[in-house]
Amino acid sequence: MQNKLKSLTLIFILTVFFSCKSKEKVYRVAIAVPLTGDIAAMGQGMRRGAELAIEEANQSGRFKYKIELRSFDDRADPKEAVNVANQISADPNIVAVVGHLNSGCSIPAAQIYARNNLLMITPAATNPKLTLQQLEPSWKWNKNVFRVNTTDDVQGQFAAQYLIQNLKIRTVAIIHDKTPYGQGLCEEFQKEFVAKNGLVLSFDGIAVGEKDFKALLTRIKTQNPNAIYFGGIYNEGGLIAKQAKELGIKSLFISGDALQTKEFFKVAGAASEGAYITNVGLPPEKIPSALTFLEKYKNKFQATDLQPYDHYTYEAFMIAILALEKAGVQPDSDAVDHSKMIEFMRTLRYDGVLGTTEFDEKGDTKNKAISIYVVKNKSFQALN
Ligand code: ALA
Repeated sequence: MQNKLKSLTLIFILTVFFSCKSKEKVYRVAIAVPLTGDIAAMGQGMRRGAELAIEEANQSGRFKYKIELRSFDDRADPKEAVNVANQISADPNIVAVVGHLNSGCSIPAAQIYARNNLLMITPAATNPKLTLQQLEPSWKWNKNVFRVNTTDDVQGQFAAQYLIQNLKIRTVAIIHDKTPYGQGLCEEFQKEFVAKNGLVLSFDGIAVGEKDFKALLTRIKTQNPNAIYFGGIYNEGGLIAKQAKELGIKSLFISGDALQTKEFFKVAGAASEGAYITNVGLPPEKIPSALTFLEKYKNKFQATDLQPYDHYTYEAFMIAILALEKAGVQPDSDAVDHSKMIEFMRTLRYDGVLGTTEFDEKGDTKNKAISIYVVKNKSFQALN
């Protein structure tokens, strides 16, 4: 009888212990990027950045709660991005979302997060409209959108000035992929190129997923531009660079951030040599505070190449977690104050892997650095 009592007491103690343990509060931060499909390589890289940040935060011993990563695949499709945004917003344990990669996905998804008063930080979308839309009278919600990378007005302008001033380019043919990113970047580039007395010989749109650009390039060949400026992602960009070379086009090839990945070399092959690529921000190797991140990334993911937005994603997660810690979690309760997290972002000054991040009234980073690279021996050599 006594033994039975002892066993029951033990079972009771263990049950209480484990039920208390299992009650450790969990807060989730979501990542919403393309994890499958044609540009999954970049989304997978961003998830690696997120994993590092979550791991580091949980290991820091700073929190009484656990932080969990929740991954959502928007397949780089704006409709799917809206679906994913609705799923994310429906989970009461998700305290912030980092994403999306594509401007075309980020712009509509941001509106869903805003309606649900959820903090959104993009580490990759560069179209200015993403944050500007919050200033429109139709935006009835909190200004919940923040961006740790700079924008295509800055990037397009930089590229135009570099071509005119440094490379003495006078004429260009412009090709874009008709997305808010590709077309938007090309429009910004064109504005500045024309303002600096450059001549735009043509401005054409192609479709994402298209594979054969020979007809368009044959026409461009007759124009004999000094350069082809492309706005879009590495798949189409790589094929355009490749097919241009195959047609004997000698024009310099230049594009933006979504081509600063080794995936571009795989698609373009030898035609990637000599291409110029701009990206938002400085090369991480040149930011002293990013070196530890680069080392950790290499140790954890071995030979996996860093994709263009991995360190941005890491930073966005670190900032979201800080907002949760400093303003979100309420004393004496598990509840999260989303408005306070958003307010906290406005006053933030954060020194991390991107250098110093502070946000302007739109929610954009004040860090406007742009870098430019030339491809040599299948690597991006920084020129500034
Ligand atoms: N910067 C790219 C975009 O905005 C990835 O879509």
